[in-house]
Amino acid sequence: MCQKGEECKQELQQFNITAKIKILELNMDDYKSVQSFATALQREVSVVDILILNAGIGLLKFERSPSGHERVTQVNYLSNVLLITALVPHLKESAEKTGRPVRVTWVGSRMYFDTSLDKKAPLKTGESVLEHMDSKEFFLANQRYNDSKLLCAMSMYSLAPRLDKSKIVLTMVCPGLVNTNMTDVLPLHVRMVMGVVKTLFARPVEVGGRLFIHAAVVAGPESHGRFLGDKDIIEYGFCPVTLSCRLKRTFDD
Ligand SMILES: NC(=O)c1ccc[n+]([C@@H]2O[C@H](COP(=O)([O-])OP(=O)(O)OC[C@H]3O[C@@H](n4cnc5c(N)ncnc54)[C@H](OP(=O)(O)O)[C@@H]3O)[C@@H](O)[C@H]2O)c1
Repeated sequence: MCQKGEECKQELQQFNITAKIKILELNMDDYKSVQSFATALQREVSVVDILILNAGIGLLKFERSPSGHERVTQVNYLSNVLLITALVPHLKESAEKTGRPVRVTWVGSRMYFDTSLDKKAPLKTGESVLEHMDSKEFFLANQRYNDSKLLCAMSMYSLAPRLDKSKIVLTMVCPGLVNTNMTDVLPLHVRMVMGVVKTLFARPVEVGGRLFIHAAVVAGPESHGRFLGDKDIIEYGFCPVTLSCRLKRTFDD
């Protein structure tokens, strides 16, 4: 069993010794692991109340996942879409048992407003979004994270209207700059700069966690299919209109 999970369990049990905590393995870099996790979750957890999709990475080097897709796209976007899709039947059943919707909170980022798909590496007419993301030629290190989060947001906007919100409320939340380990993958000199930026401007992890809880529990059904910046619904439209329309068509198809 995963050592990190066990350590986390022990830490949580210091606050609540009777809490029932199960650890299931999930590697978002690998479709098979995502499918196994979805199966295990259905077996182990008969009723899901809240699902928080938190996993996310930002890499500066082009890498491929076992699926052949570019790794940031795989972990942040493709695997999350597979996970939600695989779990929809179980989430619906959960809602039918409890009589209230399951809250699915997907962690996004406002960084998606600044995307290379519009300017520096624009999508060509007729080019598939995935082919574009998988091409080394269009990998812009400092924008790949943003681009992957744009795909997540577009996917959330496209998927939510197809879900019955009396059963599943799907929301995306951006917690702002939070002092986490995300910058660990950066080169030393960038990490040093980011260390100063984080010390001055980043929120502590606890604040980020509270914003996730707000999105999952406090925000009402009006947050279905919406993007929360901290606690507020941010209107869609920051992404340039032409690109939005193009991507919207892609996702709707
Ligand atoms: N930090 C920020 O300022 C900020 C701002 C906006 C949005 N976000 C988003 O917040 C989320 C959490 O990031 P963070 O800032 O907390 O960064 P982090 O400290 O690096 O945490 C990343 C999380 O993603 C998980 N993860 C990474 N690769 C994975 C994989 N292949 N399979 C399964 N889980 C994987 C990690 O799990 P392990 O610990 O087990 O590796 C960890 O829980 C991300 O979606 C990020 O995009 C962060």
